[in-house]
Amino acid sequence: MLRVNQAGEYGATRIYAGQLAVLRANGAEAKLIARMASQEERHLKRFNNLMAERRVRPTALQPLWNVAGFALGAATALMSEQAALACTDAVETEIDKHYGGQLDQLADEDPELASDIAEFREEEVEHRDTARAAGAANAAGYPLLTAAIRAGCRMAIELSKRV
Ligand SMILES: [Fe+2]
Ligand SMILES: [Fe+2]
Repeated sequence: MLRVNQAGEYGATRIYAGQLAVLRANGAEAKLIARMASQEERHLKRFNNLMAERRVRPTALQPLWNVAGFALGAATALMSEQAALACTDAVETEIDKHYGGQLDQLADEDPELASDIAEFREEEVEHRDTARAAGAANAAGYPLLTAAIRAGCRMAIELSKRV
């Protein structure tokens, strides 16, 4: 769980870095995304610390998530501000399901990890709702774009669990 969660939070920081590299720094979207990015940094730090404490190795795919995350962020931001928001909408939809599944699986086991996951999940849902409220669904090709990104996230989650 820690390995896949750390990979996901790392990927999230890379997606937002890609978007912020492209978006106008003083635009409304960049401001929203910068705030989310700082929360992802916090999530990532926490999982980094837990992995060190518990001697869990990171995924071997970290270099891939570095590049793929940044590319996804930059590509969606180049499409439009709304596409950048649709990316957040799609990613956080999958992360909400992923964290929800882990919480069900953990039940009463490992309350320390469960409380972090529950807290981060709330923030991810808030990111998703923020993106929707800011007009994510107005992105051109929203249904196809979000379906493709969601499929990519599910694939990244499965791969990071294994490798
Ligand atoms: Fe996060
Ligand atoms: Fe998030």
